Amino acid sequence: MRLKDRVAIITGSARGIGRGFAEAYVREGATVAIADINLAAAEACAKAIGPQAFAVHMDVSKLESINKAVDEVVAKAGHIDILVNNAALFDMAPIVDISEASYNKLFSINVYGVLFTMQAVAKHMIARGKGGKIINMASQAGRRGEALVGVYCATKATVISLTQSAGLNLIQHGINVNAMAPGVVDGEHWDHVDSMFAKYENRPLGEKKKIVGAGVPIGRMATPKDLEGMAIFLASSGSDYIVSQTYNVDGGQWMS
Ligand SMILES: NC(=O)c1ccc[n+]([C@@H]2O[C@H](COP(=O)([O-])OP(=O)(O)OC[C@H]3O[C@@H](n4cnc5c(N)ncnc54)[C@H](O)[C@@H]3O)[C@@H](O)[C@H]2O)c1
Repeated sequence: MRLKDRVAIITGSARGIGRGFAEAYVREGATVAIADINLAAAEACAKAIGPQAFAVHMDVSKLESINKAVDEVVAKAGHIDILVNNAALFDMAPIVDISEASYNKLFSINVYGVLFTMQAVAKHMIARGKGGKIINMASQAGRRGEALVGVYCATKATVISLTQSAGLNLIQHGINVNAMAPGVVDGEHWDHVDSMFAKYENRPLGEKKKIVGAGVPIGRMATPKDLEGMAIFLASSGSDYIVSQTYNVDGGQWMS
């Protein structure tokens, strides 16, 4: 068990990749806070995982909610060793159609949420004096632009940059900050992405998914399970000498 007795908070973990990480961390011996804006879904998820998981309401776009959730996790579990900044939203539109509302919403969750959740958890980790692990969910979308995905790509490029700066700043406290850049991961998130491509590229539902899956060098889309090895490694002592990196876990789609 690589995470025995560690306490993790995973934002946006009521479903999808975050839920997969929560299950994996519990299997590795950790206690996990399922921190999500959808409290009912977080509670159902925690119940399904078992007694080592518990639900916390958290809206990462609001500082008050971030601080309250972090305090709640510390009150319930005693401390925090691991933060996974996983919550994010997706949207797409041609550049001339991007709305201010869409821009503000994506940046408030995908960037503001990552920065201020890192800040709240890092303050706790520094005060405790035992270091910690912070893992930010970037994306291959943060490695280069996409014609219809300008804002989401920009938020994920910012996550890669914030990971570099936060890693350099926090390693003096024994806090490793690193990130993961998945490629295309099947689930409700990609059902939504597929439906938006169907609209903008005039395709039948499901077609974009098939195309992107076939385009991955490994030959298929990922599942959350494909990402958990890296998520466990970055949360474990095996990553103690790793600082400010973003790892591609994408079946060979991007090389850098
Ligand atoms: N699915 C992919 O193909 C893919 C690829 C690359 C990167 N990623 C990244 O991985 C992460 C997880 O993706 P996923 O596919 O599991 O997404 P998802 O949409 O399935 O899940 C996102 C979760 O975040 C929660 N959430 C939304 N707004 C929130 C807020 N304001 N505060 C707290 N929680 C909030 C939702 O309720 C949901 O449970 C995201 O950062 C995403 O950008 C996903």
